Amino acid sequence: MQKVGVLVVSYGARAAAVIDALKRSEEYDVRVYVVDKQRNPFNAELAEAHAVIPDLDVDAILKFAERHKDVLDFGIVCPEGPIIEGVRDVIEECLKIPMICPTKEFALEGSKARQRLLLAEVASEANPEFKIFRRFEFKSVTEVKEALWRFLDEIGDDVAVKPDRPAAGKGVGVFGEHFHNREQLFEHFLSIFETSDVVVEKRLEGEESSFQAFCDGRRLEPLPETRDYKRAFDGDFGQNTGGMGSYKDVSDLLPFMEPSDRERELALVEKIFKALKGDGRNEGLIGIPFYVAFMHTAEGPKILEINSRPGDPEIQNILPIMRSDFVELCFRMLEGSLQRIECERRATVVTYAVPLTYGGYRTKYTGDSKVDLSGAYKLKEKYGDDVRIYPGAMELRDDGCTYALRSRAVCIVGVGEDLQAAREISLDGIRNIDGPLWNRWDIGAEWHIRNSVKRMRKLRAHGEGIIRPIR
Ligand code: GLY
Repeated sequence: MQKVGVLVVSYGARAAAVIDALKRSEEYDVRVYVVDKQRNPFNAELAEAHAVIPDLDVDAILKFAERHKDVLDFGIVCPEGPIIEGVRDVIEECLKIPMICPTKEFALEGSKARQRLLLAEVASEANPEFKIFRRFEFKSVTEVKEALWRFLDEIGDDVAVKPDRPAAGKGVGVFGEHFHNREQLFEHFLSIFETSDVVVEKRLEGEESSFQAFCDGRRLEPLPETRDYKRAFDGDFGQNTGGMGSYKDVSDLLPFMEPSDRERELALVEKIFKALKGDGRNEGLIGIPFYVAFMHTAEGPKILEINSRPGDPEIQNILPIMRSDFVELCFRMLEGSLQRIECERRATVVTYAVPLTYGGYRTKYTGDSKVDLSGAYKLKEKYGDDVRIYPGAMELRDDGCTYALRSRAVCIVGVGEDLQAAREISLDGIRNIDGPLWNRWDIGAEWHIRNSVKRMRKLRAHGEGIIRPIR
């Protein structure tokens, strides 16, 4: 078997799933060289070389790659931070190691204002009404307040207030949830505006789906739809999190989607792709340049945001059931010869176990953070590859034990013939973790999905006749 060396820039359980997919290649003998925020037990065990760079600083990543450059065939970057900072540009320029992620120029995730302006140009039907408040345009607090009030007079107070730069879900405020009147809204607005431009947009009502596609710069290969559960608590209550879990149904669609919803999504993403690609191939768009959060509204799908990397946990729904050899797929992305991506027609459910203070479950926890995953791993005897255990914010320490840090600790992927079978495996894994963690119990639950279907039906009935045609 041909030996292949891969640099993996890791953050969260998503990278463990990527490393798992690379190491499972049947065509290549893969060695991974991992840059991590901490000593992730899964990655550290499988890596040929492993470095901890807590802030994932681009220069430090470059130095690590330089030490291993003779054995590295390509690199793959999972978190947005280094992508936005231009890790690909730097490594390709200095070391000539091809990287799988967009270049700095095409990392749309870096600016929500840029995303809205691009959509206004090429796919305005996917935009809610919005206004960008640039810091340099206003001389005083009174001036910006008056401008904001004028905008709210036009579109109403039911808005979302978002920082231009990504803030890991923090900073986004929604009327009726984070503020209940204009003064509170303005307080929230100002807390962002002190350091960043702000995008204010009409709040979108509907059902969310996550669209992901691999891209070789010439074509996009869409992956099956997934549904992320962003809120902390069961029933979609509580604060926004990085994502407490996600599901993928047996088919490429989610239960509340019609085939035409998917067609509309594809048409919108293709428009964005074409606008950025121009004629021929644009190598700056290699990787997953468009992981798009859609909101399915009464007026059809609208875009909440565009990310420039795989979703976490959404990519964990896909990689375990991908039929295509992942290393081969990576080479094809780099060469510009991407082919149709085949996935098994099975359902997957990902449930995250998180520390007690994550998502506001407890205000304080001062106890031990030791987490033992051996009970969950033992389930492999029962489920084989239908259960996958991917540690995220967990650390292997010198005592040989693993500890949860402050973010999402470990996700369990269940794969099944239908959603409920997949969910049962995922939850069985969760129940067999020993440690001070908690989780949502309703990821992929029948009642949750039924509610989504019902809500979507109601919205469609209300919006009938006003869905605009695809142009
Ligand atoms: N699932 C949310 C994210 O990856 O940003």
